[in-house]
Amino acid sequence: MSKILVTGGAGFIGSNLVDRLILEGHEVCIVDDMSSGREDYLNPQARFYDLEISSEKLASIFEAERFDFVYHLAAQIDVRRSVAHPVFDNLVNIIGGFNVIKTAHEYGVKKIIFVSTREVYGQNYVVLRFSNVYGPRQYKGGEAGIIANFVEAAVKKSACVLNGDGLQTRDFLFVYDAVDALVQAKEVDFYGEMNISTGREVNMMSVIAAIEKATGEKLNYQQLPGKLGEQRRSCLSYQKAHEILGYEPKIDLQQGIQLTVEWAKKQL
Ligand SMILES: NC(=O)c1ccc[n+]([C@@H]2O[C@H](COP(=O)([O-])OP(=O)(O)OC[C@H]3O[C@@H](n4cnc5c(N)ncnc54)[C@H](O)[C@@H]3O)[C@@H](O)[C@H]2O)c1
Repeated sequence: MSKILVTGGAGFIGSNLVDRLILEGHEVCIVDDMSSGREDYLNPQARFYDLEISSEKLASIFEAERFDFVYHLAAQIDVRRSVAHPVFDNLVNIIGGFNVIKTAHEYGVKKIIFVSTREVYGQNYVVLRFSNVYGPRQYKGGEAGIIANFVEAAVKKSACVLNGDGLQTRDFLFVYDAVDALVQAKEVDFYGEMNISTGREVNMMSVIAAIEKATGEKLNYQQLPGKLGEQRRSCLSYQKAHEILGYEPKIDLQQGIQLTVEWAKKQL
């Protein structure tokens, strides 16, 4: 059993990770300022600290808890907000990320695993570069949550918007596969960076078809012109993660969407 800190543990990926780590018998703490996290996602078996990651108080938590591992998932992830408020974005993602990594280093944490900031302090880190993650608990709204938005509209039988011709592609990674990779990254004797993805390019029309198959109903969407600057295609190779972690995505798009739809129905 290890003592593990998950920053952002009340968020989409972080809360799924906390549940998995607790199932595996680890002692888990969460640092989250609840800016986009949700109280009902907080695992009651984890110790929760309501704190902003750039706070000086972070060191006292490390002092009291003495973590073996740190997963750093707290971040300001809204791209539009980062353009509108770049100083705030830097404060969270650069200064806050630096504070987590620096403090972890000072308190002799064995390994830091993170997915967001590019600032690095010390050598004991693993950076996982996720493709587009989706699944239960994803925050709706913002560009990260296209599947979350469509699935919510499908189960509520409300309207949603598809920007562009629907042939733009993404590499959609189910959250349990992302969590698998996070757990594997803790186990292996490797420090550095790697992509975590499916290696499959999926267009929005296929996503809509998968949602319609899962619900048995037509999705009510309005097609609007594409957004300026939107990426046309996106797909990442996970070969390095396969070689180092033995990582292999297990859940295909139809299964993942089915699980997301089932979860979304329970939220109604
Ligand atoms: N969702 C994706 O498709 C995706 C893809 C690639 C990378 N990532 C990365 O994964 C990480 C987690 O993303 P997510 O989708 O779970 O986002 P999320 O918004 O659901 O989770 C982020 C969590 O961090 C907390 N938080 C935000 N700012 C904080 C601060 N200053 N101090 C303390 N807590 C703070 C939020 O309250 C929230 O609980 C992020 O680093 C994100 O960039 C996500």
